[in-house]
Amino acid sequence: MELSRKDLLKMSVLGAAAVALPLERSVGAATVLASRIAESRLPPPFTTPFSIPPVIQPVRSDATTDYYRVSMEPTTVEVIPGLQTQMWGYNGVVPGPTFQVAQGRRTVVRQINNLPSVHPVLNYTPWTSVHLHGSASLPEFDGYASDITNPGQYKDYQYPNYQPARTLWYHDHGVHHTAENVFMGLAGQYQLSDALDRSLPIPHGEFDVPLIVSDKMFNSDGSLLFSTNDNSGFYGDVILVNGRPWPVMKVKRRKYRFRILNASPSRSYNWSLDSGDSMAVIATDAGLMPTPQYVKSFRHGVAERYEVVIDFAKYQPGRRVVLRNTSPKNNINFTNTNKIMAFEVVDDSFSEADNSVPSSLNPNQATMLLKESDAVQTRTMNFVRANGQWTINGTTWEDVVRSRFMKVLANPRIDDVEIWELRNPSGGWHHPAHIHFIDFRILSRNGRPPLPHELGAKDVVFLGENESVRLLIKFDGGRGKYMIHCHNLVHEDHDMMSQFEIRDDVTPAHDPLSNLAKWLPEGDL
Ligand code: C2O
Ligand code: CU
Ligand code: CU
Repeated sequence: MELSRKDLLKMSVLGAAAVALPLERSVGAATVLASRIAESRLPPPFTTPFSIPPVIQPVRSDATTDYYRVSMEPTTVEVIPGLQTQMWGYNGVVPGPTFQVAQGRRTVVRQINNLPSVHPVLNYTPWTSVHLHGSASLPEFDGYASDITNPGQYKDYQYPNYQPARTLWYHDHGVHHTAENVFMGLAGQYQLSDALDRSLPIPHGEFDVPLIVSDKMFNSDGSLLFSTNDNSGFYGDVILVNGRPWPVMKVKRRKYRFRILNASPSRSYNWSLDSGDSMAVIATDAGLMPTPQYVKSFRHGVAERYEVVIDFAKYQPGRRVVLRNTSPKNNINFTNTNKIMAFEVVDDSFSEADNSVPSSLNPNQATMLLKESDAVQTRTMNFVRANGQWTINGTTWEDVVRSRFMKVLANPRIDDVEIWELRNPSGGWHHPAHIHFIDFRILSRNGRPPLPHELGAKDVVFLGENESVRLLIKFDGGRGKYMIHCHNLVHEDHDMMSQFEIRDDVTPAHDPLSNLAKWLPEGDL
């Protein structure tokens, strides 16, 4: 059954009983949505102060490596003033603490699953698998969906950090429950720096700010309300930035760098400033672009990272600039989902250092220097809904599991360059498509050049309605199986995920299931 956006709206606003669905489902959905908190009880936009997640510190360090310890655990937060919301946080923080790591240092992160044995409302066992999205990790440390850590278990993840500077993020990837686990709060930023990034006169330090955007929905008692609209996606009526609803941030009259991460389960955004001014996009998923791109608005799908510089110098103190969202189609929108946050300009003094955007950022970005003529093979990946399941080339993660993890969609040879053409033949939905381990360059979108904000190396591509994109990929360094999936987490869980294998005829592949979680109590770290 193909549901139009209007149908989805009807279902979501009037309750599922409005359309013909099996009784159990319609009763459940109608009950759930009836408990949705009244809009009048939500905080008005731009009344909550902005906040930044804490930076996590290592528990110890040696000559090459920093060791971190993280507990995934329930936490109670006040998102709606006067109401308590139970969420799940890394170290009890939502979003999780920010990692700040320098290229060349390795990290080991112990992740301990201290979550309850069943989800209090949804009744599933919250096994986890932590993925560092954007990292060229070995398969056994990549958050392979079926490499699960059950409550009462822990796993030590190793990260190489040899890649160019970028904004990564870590989030849950546990098979079939990624959407719920991330919705409960299991996501955070991981910032990798390098000498080039530090040497550029772009904003650093207090002027380099994470913006983790996600949408939520609440019951009238303050608890989270999770509803997937017949597995089309989750669309909340409250927009959070760094865990705060529509916050307001005080900014000085200079340039700021914002690392925007769309950590929503399903929602895509189209950003613009209500001043009509442009923003300088300086980095994409895989780091600094060759040159900055000045845009008045740009589209941002789930899991993509865009770093923008906004210059507040020209505004008078007291001026409020709003970051807006003119929604791409096929999202479910509510009264205030067209607003994200506000910047309030203040007259405080500031340092003039690192207050520019050079016209050249990373001209030698290796992925962006790949040439189409380097490609030795072209493959096609079709993202399609079939028989109620979301599939890639007709297959699902269940097919991978049933094959005992042998089935792969592609088996590129190490160091080869290939063209992958990703296609979405439907006009009813879009897919943020993600390929693990590698970075890619977008060659074309619907036969035309990529959009300006996409002129940098990436690991997620927005596959819009009836769109096809051609990606140029070098499979460097990895040996073994890695996932490819839609990053609309509801699509991913049902079950638009598969894998490919990077082959190396000399060195044996790493098995993603070769380093399984251990039971508590913890061993040495
Ligand atoms: Cu952001 Cu497979 O993940
Ligand atoms: Cu990833
Ligand atoms: Cu999708």
